[in-house]
Amino acid sequence: MNSFTLSPIPEILFGAGRLADLGGKAEGLGGKGAHVLLVADPALRGLGITGRALDVLARAGFEASTYEDFKGEPRQPDIDQAAEIARTSKSKIVVGLGGGSALDTAKLVACCAVSGLDASAYALCATPLPKNRLPVIAIPTTAGTGSEVTRVSVFADASKVKVWAWGEELKPDVAILDPELTVGVPPHITAATGLDALVHAIEACTNKHRNDGNDLYCHKAISLISANLERAVKDPDDIEARGAMLLGSCYGGIGIDNCGTALAHNISHAVADLAPIAHGRATGLAMLATIGWVSEGNPGAFTRVAAAMGASDAAKAYDRLVRSTGIKIALDGDGLDLGNPKLLAEHMASPANNPMRKSTARYPSDAELIELAERFLTLA
Ligand SMILES: [Fe+2]
Repeated sequence: MNSFTLSPIPEILFGAGRLADLGGKAEGLGGKGAHVLLVADPALRGLGITGRALDVLARAGFEASTYEDFKGEPRQPDIDQAAEIARTSKSKIVVGLGGGSALDTAKLVACCAVSGLDASAYALCATPLPKNRLPVIAIPTTAGTGSEVTRVSVFADASKVKVWAWGEELKPDVAILDPELTVGVPPHITAATGLDALVHAIEACTNKHRNDGNDLYCHKAISLISANLERAVKDPDDIEARGAMLLGSCYGGIGIDNCGTALAHNISHAVADLAPIAHGRATGLAMLATIGWVSEGNPGAFTRVAAAMGASDAAKAYDRLVRSTGIKIALDGDGLDLGNPKLLAEHMASPANNPMRKSTARYPSDAELIELAERFLTLA
């Protein structure tokens, strides 16, 4: 018998137009008329999405301060600045609106605002997270990270090193999944973030930590994403496909929250040390390069992945799906030294990336890391 524990899942509101429920949920968590800090991806202002969220809050009687002065992945000074705004505005609730960066920021801001500590205090679990953090509502606008249901925040510390904070306190109280907010995402980002979500689900149900309970979410995520990714890329306004992607990415988030990732994320994290390649694309391509090799470590789990994709061979089905998105496969011109697999392998073997190496269904030796790095760098 496979013994396991599933961690709690935030309340999930799913459906087109569910942004309208933000006011009611804010009232339930922060009280009537409580001040709100909205942490919003700056790109959403021009798309009218930040304005829509603020309107919903205003109609429900909430005043809000907005923090949108950040770019790319969260950095410690951004989180500290947002926490300062939360304190001075006496915010009682934090709403994160955007991709993984905005959500990861909001989750940590809710902790830092209460404790008064810098975000760096929580890097690598150095300090326990506060038990009384502000309530958090997470509203993803990309179908990718699943951060709305996970207890991790990734950010760059003061010396720009990528670190993570982890704990139950970081898990949002409510996730609002409204596919209408994702229709403006351009095809290449839909493809990259969608592949990231798919890889979350595949890795969480095939790695050494997988369990039967978590497989339920992973397999559903895999079937939702594999049936809808190409549709969402080719027709950005297809609200049914957008909804399936958003739900799939949320279920993939539940997947990694319980069982973590594996070799494809080991490679994409190693790549992040060397070149500025988008996480979703790097991860999707790392899976493409290694799925055949890894699947030999647990053929049964990969047969179930294939079944969730409606196929008999997971590696072939995954290859077909990746290519159907039109994502650029070859890594020339991306800033990596394609002739130096040894360097990439060294980063794959680093202590920070070791847990993802160890959890992989088939453990790669040092020599095999070089071979796998080479497979990745020579993708075509
Ligand atoms: Fe990822």
